[in-house]
Amino acid sequence: MQGASRREFLKIAAGLSALSAGSRAGDAAAQGPSLRPTPSCPGSAAPTARQTEGPYFKPDSPLRASLLEPGLTGTPMIVTGAVLSTACQPVARALIDVWHADDRGAYDTTGFRLRGHQFTDDQGRYRLETIVPGIYVGRTRHFHVKVQAPNRPVLTTQLYFPGEAMNARDPIFSPELVMRVSETTTGKAGSFDFVVDLGR
Ligand SMILES: [Fe+2]
Repeated sequence: MQGASRREFLKIAAGLSALSAGSRAGDAAAQGPSLRPTPSCPGSAAPTARQTEGPYFKPDSPLRASLLEPGLTGTPMIVTGAVLSTACQPVARALIDVWHADDRGAYDTTGFRLRGHQFTDDQGRYRLETIVPGIYVGRTRHFHVKVQAPNRPVLTTQLYFPGEAMNARDPIFSPELVMRVSETTTGKAGSFDFVVDLGR
């Protein structure tokens, strides 16, 4: 097991033991995120839940909406959605920085394979081309994402897949961060709208 991978696993193991040792109040707190109201636009929405960035984030990813490149294996996937304010208004020019494991569950820690950032368009929309990430020890299938509205703090979170057996055993997993995922003729399509607090 790689050092970084082992560190993430140990953190998860620590989280699991804390959960199992937790009081009833602790358990309730651990389940807190699943009790958040589902964002519903139009109207108003709670900001997207924050999650740990984990050990594999690297700054200065390339500006690119497609992470596909020669030699990449795995199931193609297109993820689309929007960045919205808590008042359900589209946020243009919001940063979306994505990094994730390859189809074998490995991160590129030396280069920028499966890492990239883009900015939302005038309607606050984004479109990411990539592959379905593989799973690795202790974690269910996920994308890592940082979202940042112009001149606002960075929101670090993760996106999940529905119907994954590991979702139930990953203490970091949160049901409110599950994408809508469908099969397409070329792979999978996912969608997720992020909600950020513009502070005004
Ligand atoms: Fe990860």
